[in-house]
Amino acid sequence: MNASSPIGIFDSGVGGLSILREIRRAFASEDLLYVADSAFVPYGDKSPQFVEARSVAITEFLVDRNAKAIVVACNTATGAAITTLRSRFSVPIVGIEPAVKPAVGKTASRVVAVLATSGTLSSDKFAKLLARFGGVVDILIQPCAGLVEQVEAGELHGEKARDLTAKYVLPLLERGADTIILGCTHYSFLAPLIREIAGPQISIVDPNAAIAHELRRRLESNDLLSPDPRSGTEQFWTSGAPNDVKPVVSQLWNADVQVRRLPKRYCRST
Ligand code: DGL
Repeated sequence: MNASSPIGIFDSGVGGLSILREIRRAFASEDLLYVADSAFVPYGDKSPQFVEARSVAITEFLVDRNAKAIVVACNTATGAAITTLRSRFSVPIVGIEPAVKPAVGKTASRVVAVLATSGTLSSDKFAKLLARFGGVVDILIQPCAGLVEQVEAGELHGEKARDLTAKYVLPLLERGADTIILGCTHYSFLAPLIREIAGPQISIVDPNAAIAHELRRRLESNDLLSPDPRSGTEQFWTSGAPNDVKPVVSQLWNADVQVRRLPKRYCRST
């Protein structure tokens, strides 16, 4: 692999496309490989060992495709697997975690809320964030069962998505939260709905642009930024059925894309 090689990005499903969007915005000439582990979505209710095994298998696939860097576009997989990925693979690996620190800088009420999967909220990594910032502000945590499935179905505005989102968000506002952290990459696609439900005075904190920034820093320091002036390409892969996954990837990516099937050897569940 070299500076002209692609960047690999993965998530349990289509949530990481919100990160891919920021990466494309920040890096016009990079080639991007995206894997949606749709056969195993959601990760949020699986064991950390399971999520770690899937993260290793997908990273192997991306490294076998010559990826020069990996972006774990999933809070749950970052919590379960980033330490293992960094010890097993030599390419730079960038992860994502709920943006508690920026939220602490924004809140006036001193109450912030984290929307995330139960996997993320019960991870050691998140426990460290709570220990670090929990004494500074009140941190309300809200697991959001069912929201990932709404996004996977491309249902971002319907009644069911609205009811479910309101059920999670409104009690947090009643408890004084003025800042909502999107601690799952899927929820970025629900940000307009969350904004409608929570109102204009609430801050919504999403770390996606910061990930692209961190990726640039890592590529620069390893001399891996693409030297090619041409426009970069995107390739989409899934462990699920491409025909089922293609419509929602196309919807969220705003283009009619091709989705390929991940080779079987990277699709095992253990
Ligand atoms: N998008 C993921 C995250 O950021 C995973 C959601 C899931 O599969 O449960 O946590």
